[in-house]
Amino acid sequence: MDGSLYSVAYLVAAVLFILSLGGLANQGTARRGNVYGMVGMVLGILATAFHPRVEALPLMVGAVAVGGTVGAVFAMRVAMTAMPQLVALLHSFVGLAAVLVGISSFMNPPEAMAGTALAVHHVEIWLGVAIGSITFTGSVVAWGKLRGSLSGRPILLPGRHLLNLVLTVVSMGMVFWFLDADLAPETGLLLLLVMTALTGVLGIHLVVAIGGADMPVVVSLLNSYSGWAAAAAGFMLSNDLLIVTGALVGSSGAILSYIMCRAMNRSIWHVVFGGFGTEGGQPAVISEEQGEVIATDSDEVVDLFDGARSIVIVPGYGMAVARAQHLVHELSSTLRSRGAMVRYAIHPVAGRLPGHMNVLLAEAGVPYDVVLEMEEINGDLPDTDVVLVIGANDIVNPGAQTDETSPIYGMPVLEAWKAGTVVVFKRSMGSGYAGVQNPLFFHDNTRMFFGDAKESMQGLVSKLTN
Ligand code: TAP
Repeated sequence: MDGSLYSVAYLVAAVLFILSLGGLANQGTARRGNVYGMVGMVLGILATAFHPRVEALPLMVGAVAVGGTVGAVFAMRVAMTAMPQLVALLHSFVGLAAVLVGISSFMNPPEAMAGTALAVHHVEIWLGVAIGSITFTGSVVAWGKLRGSLSGRPILLPGRHLLNLVLTVVSMGMVFWFLDADLAPETGLLLLLVMTALTGVLGIHLVVAIGGADMPVVVSLLNSYSGWAAAAAGFMLSNDLLIVTGALVGSSGAILSYIMCRAMNRSIWHVVFGGFGTEGGQPAVISEEQGEVIATDSDEVVDLFDGARSIVIVPGYGMAVARAQHLVHELSSTLRSRGAMVRYAIHPVAGRLPGHMNVLLAEAGVPYDVVLEMEEINGDLPDTDVVLVIGANDIVNPGAQTDETSPIYGMPVLEAWKAGTVVVFKRSMGSGYAGVQNPLFFHDNTRMFFGDAKESMQGLVSKLTN
């Protein structure tokens, strides 16, 4: 491929990635955004593979074929509920790739590079490997926490902030030694490996200090780190598209982390430096039950629907687990056809992924105009007759406003308890992701509908339609 054609291909791919991000900002255009992203990616891969600098095309084709097949098989098999773990694992691959690119680029420096250019190249390697290593180990820990193989409780070592500071200062300080022009390559490699290990420990330590309820921000933050790691790899390889793509992922991940922190009323700096949300040193605890709950059944709920003019549905992680979204949509359509106003209330961290509920509702065919964000609907809840909480827990916990010892204290929540009646669909009195009891379940106007959300929805739809 001719050099200018290659640049044009990269430019078009970069524009497609930007259009893709723009499309993904809105549910109505998200599908188109995905298509832009896929076309941009294919273009980028082809332009890279056929670049004149590439010497080992068969090796590259082989690696893409094996990696692509493994990735496709895993992505097809993964359950929607296991997506967060998969995303965390994919972030770890980006981090590992940046580490490997950095080490190999140090071992095979570009020919005819000397003086300042070589020093700049070495700084790029150092930073790229450092970010990559933090991303790699941090994402592996996040993967373990999200899939439940590691405890969701924060591990808070004494003097943890000092430890973070020492690890950062030592690993960054070592770069001056690494830049010494007279350094033997073996010593340089050893320094690079020591720094990789130190930043790897830093990545582990930063993420183990974060409590379960705060994991959403960590996932988007690691997403951002993986973008910067890819951008650093782009600098090392002098690949413009990788720099642009990495910067897009890095900055959009950072913006998302900021938005999520604001939604959870947390400070971004506490997330970046670990131990976020655990300032009081209190790990999440499952508090005692707080009185009697009132159980209900489908006959009673159908009676409630008879007098309800305004109904709000709050979906949560349990709806994803039960795969109940299609039946929830059917229920809401039936209620609407009986004259009720039915709307959905989406909390920014409902489920286990940013936008998790929006994706499920869109998949079930719920119209976008009845799906409202928390800020849009919270003010309407006191005038709502019935709120149906379907497999949600932490996001409707009033303790977030009243219980200062709660790990989710300060997180804005959907104020479901202000409605006339709240019906909670879940299987047991089990807690949610943050591991805290929910006082909402013990309110006088709350009815607990125990059972799998899909079966409960099926029962209600059959009662209403027969
Ligand atoms: P959770 O607080 O996790 O509560 C989900 C509830 O669903 C559980 O209490 C569970 O109770 C119920 N459930 C599970 N399977 C069910 C089934 N088959 N049928 C009916 N109910 C079922 O969920 P949420 O309210 O959506 O809050 C999200 C939580 O996850 C927040 O703490 C958030 O910080 C955290 N988180 C979010 C993200 C993102 S980005 N969204 C990422 C990581 C963590 P039973 O066991 O009694 O059924």
